[in-house]
Amino acid sequence: MDETHENDVTLRSGMLDRLAAMRGRPLADDVANVMMVVPRHVFVPGAPSSEAYGLGAVVTHWDGQGVPRSSASAPGTVAGMLEQAQVRPGQRVLEIGAGTGYNAALLAHLVGASGSVTTIEYDADVATAARKHLDAYGADRVRVVTGDGTLGAAEDGPFDRILVTAGAWDVAPAWVEQLAPGGRVVLPLRLRGLTRVVAFERDGAGLRSVSVVEDGFIPMKGIGAMPEKNVPLGPGPDLTLRIDDAQPVTPALLQALDSEATLEWTDVVAPWAWTPEQDFWLATLPGFCRVFVNAEAVAAGRIPRAKDPWGAWGVYSGASLAYLAARQVDGTDQMPMLQVGACGFGPEGAGLVRLLTERVSAWQEHSAGGVEMTIEARPHSSAPLPGEDAALLVVDKVDHVFVVTAALTATSVEV
Ligand SMILES: C[S@@+](CC[C@H](N)C(=O)[O-])C[C@H]1O[C@@H](n2cnc3c(N)ncnc32)[C@H](O)[C@@H]1O
Repeated sequence: MDETHENDVTLRSGMLDRLAAMRGRPLADDVANVMMVVPRHVFVPGAPSSEAYGLGAVVTHWDGQGVPRSSASAPGTVAGMLEQAQVRPGQRVLEIGAGTGYNAALLAHLVGASGSVTTIEYDADVATAARKHLDAYGADRVRVVTGDGTLGAAEDGPFDRILVTAGAWDVAPAWVEQLAPGGRVVLPLRLRGLTRVVAFERDGAGLRSVSVVEDGFIPMKGIGAMPEKNVPLGPGPDLTLRIDDAQPVTPALLQALDSEATLEWTDVVAPWAWTPEQDFWLATLPGFCRVFVNAEAVAAGRIPRAKDPWGAWGVYSGASLAYLAARQVDGTDQMPMLQVGACGFGPEGAGLVRLLTERVSAWQEHSAGGVEMTIEARPHSSAPLPGEDAALLVVDKVDHVFVVTAALTATSVEV
């Protein structure tokens, strides 16, 4: 073993140790083994080794507006998806979103010489780079295709595993059609603006989740792209509403900030004000949205601070809106104990504040023992699922209807 190689091995094992410490549990053996074998730096040439073997995503391509258009996903995200996919030797695998080619190289090891890996990349320059990295590493059996992954790659299918490594808004019919019997598709799915990585298996005419994990991804491009709508309010703008799933907005909403704010606090106090799956519980409210509050408007006293500067959960209705607020009541800067409240504007602002605060308090009480989410996807042509009308959330998209249920694990009560 030469010195450089020995150094790489140390860097890779360091990355895996930090990853296991961050997650509080070891990686699945097969995933740890392949991540120990494949040198990540070969796939992000030019990145310093602290980044190539760090725990963050490495952005490799930007668009004209300074928004990332391709990256090597964070190692924790890559490992988590591979664990959900449970890839086995001899399988045929389709990846959508080749990016740097790193995940495709890991997949090539997992399927071995008797399996196959096809990876599709939308951006031609990114696909060229992926091919180059895979060749430099020696993974020449991986097939890199330039195209729109929403259409799949029927010529190489059917696939035992399909992994989508860009954020999807719907499940493309081609992925279901190209899935082999007993196959599994793993994708980051956006529902009402909330993203979960879902491992789906076939169930009747549709799909049913076998695992659901919270994470974030670069959104899908091409025919499967579905941008969220941003609604700026007030000068600055002071506040921006982000709305998903084609929920309607009336022009009167644009004047909501002209009214006085209503602010109310709950008894809920938690580290970072975080409660598991609370976002999906709030997403059941009509007019659910994400609210970005401008820090300058907060500093100038024009608007109360939002719970999360990167987007607090909120609701809107007609000419009114409300969003979650938070204030530190205890703890430290590293682990602040935040009290949750809500702030509202417009004629129905106070009512919307009450809706949010009551919902937050109820979830805090009911979810204390843990929550297990299940997501089902059924084509429009099939009949509603048994119990669909009592589900936590039903979201009707172009190709599928998504049905979300959340079982409270401590009490086994469906909500
Ligand atoms: C987070 S990166 C993927 C990381 C990659 N798997 C790796 O190991 O480096 C997401 C990639 O998906 C690509 N992408 C987005 N929409 C796509 C589509 N419709 N078809 C194929 N690739 C797409 C993006 O261009 C980007 O390169």
